[in-house]
This record gives sequence, C-alpha cells and structure tokens, in this order.
Amino acid sequence: MLIRYKKSFEKIAMGLLSFMPCEKDIKQLQQTMKTYESDDQWQLYMWKDEDIIGIIGIHILDDQTAEIQHISVNPSYRKEGIGKAMLKALKEMHKNKQLKPNEYTATFFQKCHLEEDS
Ligand SMILES: CC(C)(COP(=O)(O)OP(=O)(O)OC[C@H]1O[C@@H](n2cnc3c(N)ncnc32)[C@H](O)[C@@H]1OP(=O)(O)O)[C@@H](O)C(=O)NCCC(=O)NCCS
Repeated sequence: MLIRYKKSFEKIAMGLLSFMPCEKDIKQLQQTMKTYESDDQWQLYMWKDEDIIGIIGIHILDDQTAEIQHISVNPSYRKEGIGKAMLKALKEMHKNKQLKPNEYTATFFQKCHLEEDS
C-alpha cells in the first residue's frame, strides 16, 4: 500500500533514498528531504507492507505531467515486484497525469513498461 510521507518517517525515508546513486552525499540527501517537506509540487510516498520497505518521489511539473525523481526498495525485499507495484499504485493515484522518469529513474521505469500496461 502506498501512503504519503510524513515527518515521523524521516529516518526511514532518508535510509531508503540513500540507496539511490544520486543521493549518496548526506548534504544532497538533506537538501532533497527539505524539498519534499517544503514544496507541494514535490511528493514523497512510502510503500507499507507490515513495515515500510519502499519509497517513490515525484515532482509535479504541470497538470498533465509528473516526473519520477526517486524510487528505492529495501535490499531485503528487492525482486519481489515492489518497485513495479509502487509505480502502478502511483499511476492509479495520478490517473490524469503522465508519469515520466528523470535521468536517475529511467532505466527501471523503462523496464516496467508502465504506460503500455495501464
Ligand atoms: C530499482 C529498484 C527500486 C527495483 O525495485 P524492485 O522491487 O526490486 O523491483 P521489481 O521487483 O518490481 O523489479 C525487479 C526487476 O527490475 C530490475 N532492476 C533493478 N534495478 C534496476 C535498474 N536500476 N534499472 C533497470 N532495471 C532494474 C531487476 O533486475 C529485476 O529484473 P528481472 O525481473 O528481469 O530480474 C531497486 O532495485 C532499488 O531500490 N535500487 C536502488 C535504488 C536505485 O538505483 N533506484 C533507481 C533505479 S533506475
């Protein structure tokens, strides 16, 4: 289940985001968290099963388009379809928008063939 980020998830969110190659630097990661917490156009969602095990973040560019900035799954739960399930759930939440990747999420996004499925 995909749920919206809240401040109490900060540590787990930072841990998950740090698996992304573009967020290895702590200063960069802190800046990213600040952006998600302060800018309404930047939205962070967490994948909750029993625990929180995944994260996906978007930047809403306009009424029709949202760009996927971050996607990450706890290494213990990878290759179980959670990454793809997060993309599909996000698409369900933003039905009227086209989801597109940025340079850091493109390879996985393209592998999921999201637009053809939906
Ligand atoms: C990318 C990521 C979110 C996928 O999560 P996941 O829950 O394992 O994904 P799924 O189970 O839905 O899909 C797994 C498939 O995606 C592939 N995959 C994993 N990482 C990938 C990547 N960076 N680019 C393209 N494909 C990738 C796997 O090889 C697997 O393929 P297979 O089914 O043919 O073996 C996860 O590997 C991760 O957190 N990586 C670190 C963060 C990161 O680099 N994110 C940006 C990715 S572009």
